[in-house]
Amino acid sequence: MSHLLTIECCDPALIISSEELLLVALLRHGIIFPYSCQSGVCGTCKCKLIKGRVDLDIYSDAALNPVEVQQGLILACRARLLSDVTIRKLDR
Ligand code: FES
Repeated sequence: MSHLLTIECCDPALIISSEELLLVALLRHGIIFPYSCQSGVCGTCKCKLIKGRVDLDIYSDAALNPVEVQQGLILACRARLLSDVTIRKLDR
């Protein structure tokens, strides 16, 4: 199954398989996105989920703590889309 991914700053929306990790899909489409470990440990790929639902693979609390989860932050390297999704890159 595929879903639409919209990045707030960028057009057009991308069509991404629900099987594919969000970060992998972004990089495959040539989107410049911050990342490092690609394994849910460093937190570099953290972004804000504005709309939609994702499933997160296992990650470290050091990368994404419970407060950040409450704030709607996700890790792109651990996220798979469960619906059409809009995300926002964080200012760094
Ligand atoms: S790239 Fe390190 S947590 Fe995603």
